[in-house]
Order: sequence, then structure tokens, then C-alpha cells
Amino acid sequence: MSRVNQLIKHEDYRRYLQKIDDLEAERSFCKHGFEHGLNVARIAYSYMLEKGDAIPAKETIYAAAFLHDIGRGVEYETGEDHSQVSARLALPLLEACGFTSEVVQIILTGIREHRQHCADNLTLLGEALALADNWARDCRHCSAQNQCHKFEPEMTLIIY
Ligand SMILES: [Fe+2]
Ligand SMILES: [Fe+2]
Repeated sequence: MSRVNQLIKHEDYRRYLQKIDDLEAERSFCKHGFEHGLNVARIAYSYMLEKGDAIPAKETIYAAAFLHDIGRGVEYETGEDHSQVSARLALPLLEACGFTSEVVQIILTGIREHRQHCADNLTLLGEALALADNWARDCRHCSAQNQCHKFEPEMTLIIY
């Protein structure tokens, strides 16, 4: 996991997260800081372990999870879909941390897919990120539940 440890210390990664933290300071809905990335990483990894063989390496999954929302700050400013922005910002970070071009493509595809529906024929990593993104939330106890466009009653279940 040395490349992931390098990634989360990278000054650009930290700068993107700081911008998101600043812009989400008053946000009543889910936030997208470091804790969200870590939760998505752990859940996506365990989901893929359950899937069995032919899953990406643990650090591939963790890197994708930590990077999947880094474009949120740009989306708040320009309206551009953050799944595309995140993939664009992730590329130089992944290269700087020594991920191979093959792994970089797997991660970027997963990031671009993370807002799509799982029925849309996603890659396994994209599917894991999309599911973990929802499972990482405690919707049951959220005070903004009634205003949230993502909320569905099944999200209050522990397992669905
Ligand atoms: Fe996202
Ligand atoms: Fe997310």
C-alpha cells in the first residue's frame, strides 16, 4: 500500500480535499472529505473480496476510492460532473505515485463510472465504488433525509 500512502500525502490531493472541506463547511447533506474516501475504500474492498477471484489489487481499490470525489470542488464552482473532473485530476497524481499505466486506466474508468447505476454494465471496480458510495452513508440517522435527492427508503436498511 506504499503508493496509496504516498497518494494521500501528496500536496495536490490534500489541496483538493481542503477545497472540498471549505466549500462543504455549511453543507447539510453528506460531505466528501477524507473520511468518505476511507469508508468507500474499506467497503469497496470488502465487497470485492466477497466477489472472489480476479479482483484488482487492494491498493488499486483504495486509490480509486480516495480519488473518486476529488473533483467535487471543481463541480461546485463550474457545474462540471465531478466523476469526469476527478478522473482528470487523478491521472497526474497516480502517475506521480508510480501506478502503472494499466492500473491507472482501471482506476480512471472506475472513477468515471462511480455515479452510474450498477445495472449499466460497469467494470467491477466501478460497480464496487458505486455501491460503496451509498453504503458508506448513515442515511438512517441523517437529518437531511427528506431533502436528499439520492435518498431511497432502502438506504435505511443495513443490508440490501
Ligand atoms: Fe461522487
Ligand atoms: Fe463519493
